[in-house]
Amino acid sequence: MKDLVGKTAWVTGAAQGIGAAVTRIFAQHGAKVVGADLNLQAMQDTAGRMKAEGLDVEALRLDVADPQSVTEVAAEIEKRFGGVDILVNNAGINNNTPIPEMTVEQWDRLMNIDLRGAHLCSQAATIQMMKKKWGRIINIGSMAGQIGGLKVSPDYSAAKAGAICLAKSYARFGAQYGITANAVCPGFIETEMTRGRDDPSSVLIGRLGTPEDIAGAVYFLASGLGSYLTGATIDVNGGLLMR
Ligand SMILES: NC(=O)c1ccc[n+]([C@@H]2O[C@H](COP(=O)([O-])OP(=O)(O)OC[C@H]3O[C@@H](n4cnc5c(N)ncnc54)[C@H](O)[C@@H]3O)[C@@H](O)[C@H]2O)c1
Repeated sequence: MKDLVGKTAWVTGAAQGIGAAVTRIFAQHGAKVVGADLNLQAMQDTAGRMKAEGLDVEALRLDVADPQSVTEVAAEIEKRFGGVDILVNNAGINNNTPIPEMTVEQWDRLMNIDLRGAHLCSQAATIQMMKKKWGRIINIGSMAGQIGGLKVSPDYSAAKAGAICLAKSYARFGAQYGITANAVCPGFIETEMTRGRDDPSSVLIGRLGTPEDIAGAVYFLASGLGSYLTGATIDVNGGLLMR
């Protein structure tokens, strides 16, 4: 079903992992996808592989921690592709430093990427979506943002709690313009970020999640299927956490 034909999607942190899987599923459903990542070479390689499959994917360099970089990418998407319809705030880093050893610099760096970056991209995208009277914003949160970090530092869990609430605030503002905003909270997903870290034995479904497991929920929110959800948090964790 090519239900995203005519839509331009902006996926941050799209070079690998969950962001790459989201990019693929959006493009498979007909969207033009701008994959934007700090690692331009990896982003170009990923986009190149998808283009070879006939998918409409562009690669841009983006540092979500740098307001200037966010402004430039948003302006380029507006100029070249007519503006953003769907934004996925996926770019993120984590931190495993024990609390007594954490530094202020670590805290600020993570917050600037995982939380402030999501706000800056959402703000830039919202301004474009308001003109279209339609938009979808999807933040990748985390189970850590709901119950505290099991294996990650408090900066990460606090930033992810912030990303969940950010979606609610954007949902409240965006509703009058046809913009929805939601969060997807992964549990244990096997990617470069987590390889070898998580134990599937505590997962009810009996396995670690894949990036595609998350991409399915993100696609649902971006497509017509999810049009009555806004301000929602969707848990995709194989039954690790039930609320
Ligand atoms: N893997 C999991 O188990 C899990 C669980 C919960 C939440 N998440 C969240 O899902 C998202 C994707 O995680 P992943 O597991 O695919 O990680 P990953 O490390 O495989 O991919 C993250 C991507 O973000 C990019 N990135 C990092 N800093 C950036 C910046 N400043 N600007 C732009 N791009 C930047 C990286 O280059 C990389 O391509 C993250 O927000 C992460 O916190 C992951």
